[in-house]
Amino acid sequence: MTLPKYVEDARILTQKERMEGVFEIIVSSEKIAAEAKPGQFVQLGLPEGETILRRPVGIAARDEEKKRLTFFYRVVGHGTGLLASHQAGDNLSILGPLGHGFSMEAKRPLLVGGGIGLSPLLSWAQAFPGRADVLMGGRTAVELFWQEDFRPFVREIHITTDDGSLGTKGFTVAILPELLQKNSYDCVMVCGPERMMRAAAEIAQKAQVPCQVSLEKRMACGLGACLSCSVDGQDGRRRKVCKDGPVFWAEEVFP
Ligand SMILES: Cc1cc2nc3c(=O)[nH]c(=O)nc-3n(C[C@H](O)[C@H](O)[C@H](O)COP(=O)(O)OP(=O)(O)OC[C@H]3O[C@@H](n4cnc5c(N)ncnc54)[C@H](O)[C@@H]3O)c2cc1C
Ligand code: FES
Repeated sequence: MTLPKYVEDARILTQKERMEGVFEIIVSSEKIAAEAKPGQFVQLGLPEGETILRRPVGIAARDEEKKRLTFFYRVVGHGTGLLASHQAGDNLSILGPLGHGFSMEAKRPLLVGGGIGLSPLLSWAQAFPGRADVLMGGRTAVELFWQEDFRPFVREIHITTDDGSLGTKGFTVAILPELLQKNSYDCVMVCGPERMMRAAAEIAQKAQVPCQVSLEKRMACGLGACLSCSVDGQDGRRRKVCKDGPVFWAEEVFP
């Protein structure tokens, strides 16, 4: 079933740098804020002439009453650099809500995220407060500013840092086997670097807990028309990340 998509003029309400190079931006939105599901994304267009292609950005939170959407983004290149130069009052164009998000059936999931990958997981926590635990990882303590965003919505927060400056020292997935053993999670939802998602999916499979992963591919249309975001599925069929995903059951896309 194809759900409706909208193009909205979105006014920037606030834009702040949460850590070096990572921004939180809140924009006005009526229809997308009313209809977006956790894990969906928008194609964000900068003002006329600044870039030709829109850039895909995950929805981190929505407020239907106040008609607002929140996104987090990392400055990595031309488009995100230009976005960071905009301020409250400027207008963007957003196309969405796009793609298929995370399972809405889970009652007690573990959300596993690294870096900016925590953003779409926040939208699940916000949609179903009090259900999920979150396992978040970063290189160092400052990258875990996400704690304050997740705290109102989750039961427990587990943290790892590569340098040991906060939580358990090591990679995010290092404590995943233990968490899956000690708790009866009914789903693991993962977003972050592909290596981390593959490792998490393997651990979840061993523990026999269903696992979903949110893939990232370079996109053009975002609507399933141009095939630029295709990936091989495990059954030999190609999948379009923008339309069939970005969230997939791990066994659909990982060996
Ligand atoms: C479904 C989806 C959701 C996303 N959600 C977020 C989000 O919530 N926050 C966020 O910060 N980023 C997110 N991204 C990634 C984001 O779209 C890219 O970082 C952005 O498009 C880069 O644009 P740019 O013009 O700044 O970079 P460019 O100047 O085009 O490229 C700079 C560098 O970034 C790499 N890059 C560009 N696009 C992508 C991409 N799609 N995936 C991987 N690498 C890329 C390029 O290879 C290059 O090395 C998401 C991507 C997808 C597909
Ligand atoms: S971006 Fe065009 S098909 Fe996915």
